[in-house]
Amino acid sequence: MRRPIFAGNWKMHHGPTEARAYMAAFAARWTPRTDRTIIFFPPAVSLATVVHALGARTDLSVGAQNIWTEDKGAFTGETSAPMVKDAGGRYVLVGHSERRHVFGETDAQTALKCVAAIRNGLTPILCVGELLLDREAGRTTDVVLRQLRAGLAELSAEVVASIAIAYEPVWAIGTGKTATPEDASVVHADIRKALHHSIGDRAADVPVLYGGSVNTGNAKSLMAAEGVDGLLVGGACLDVESWARICDT
Ligand code: PGA
Repeated sequence: MRRPIFAGNWKMHHGPTEARAYMAAFAARWTPRTDRTIIFFPPAVSLATVVHALGARTDLSVGAQNIWTEDKGAFTGETSAPMVKDAGGRYVLVGHSERRHVFGETDAQTALKCVAAIRNGLTPILCVGELLLDREAGRTTDVVLRQLRAGLAELSAEVVASIAIAYEPVWAIGTGKTATPEDASVVHADIRKALHHSIGDRAADVPVLYGGSVNTGNAKSLMAAEGVDGLLVGGACLDVESWARICDT
């Protein structure tokens, strides 16, 4: 049985001052429970603030929205996996659709970022998802499985069994359009099958999250969809109460 994961991607919201207030409010609102994993993905500049705000609470985790492929060096503007680790992060999103489609991140880079994460003791959540034109052209499975295979290409089967995947159809991100639970289930089943093909029975250990316009109104039906092990949430996680309600799903 995979433990449900609720991951809140703040994107470029909540600098340190807002992050501190948000975490204080969430910590007061949320009673620890051991049956789920809750992860906050603040912007890099707020990561240490969020870790600090959590104090001794081990029921809540923190991750970075992105890392670079190298551990250090002349890469102006980038954050490395060792820096995330040093700041108290445990997870990292790799290949989020905005990284791919706004910043031009390639499949090859996602593979190197997964390697950098693992090398430094971070758990990558590899994000995959098709554009609307891919879906309309019947290429959803091709695109998603290409991104999946490419992103995992440099990892051993044992390592793949320890990470997480997030399926986020690009047309559903920040648009208010959500995949139906049935749409999500079809792609989640494709992902699970591909994982099984490459790592056998250990594929059962890999959580596959759904993301894209998840909110308090649809979280329950998406979580109930066959094969959905958790939610990756953007807009609806920015408000403490709505995020707490989603995490309660
Ligand atoms: P959204 O973002 O919930 O605002 O659609 C999800 C994501 O990008 O991870």
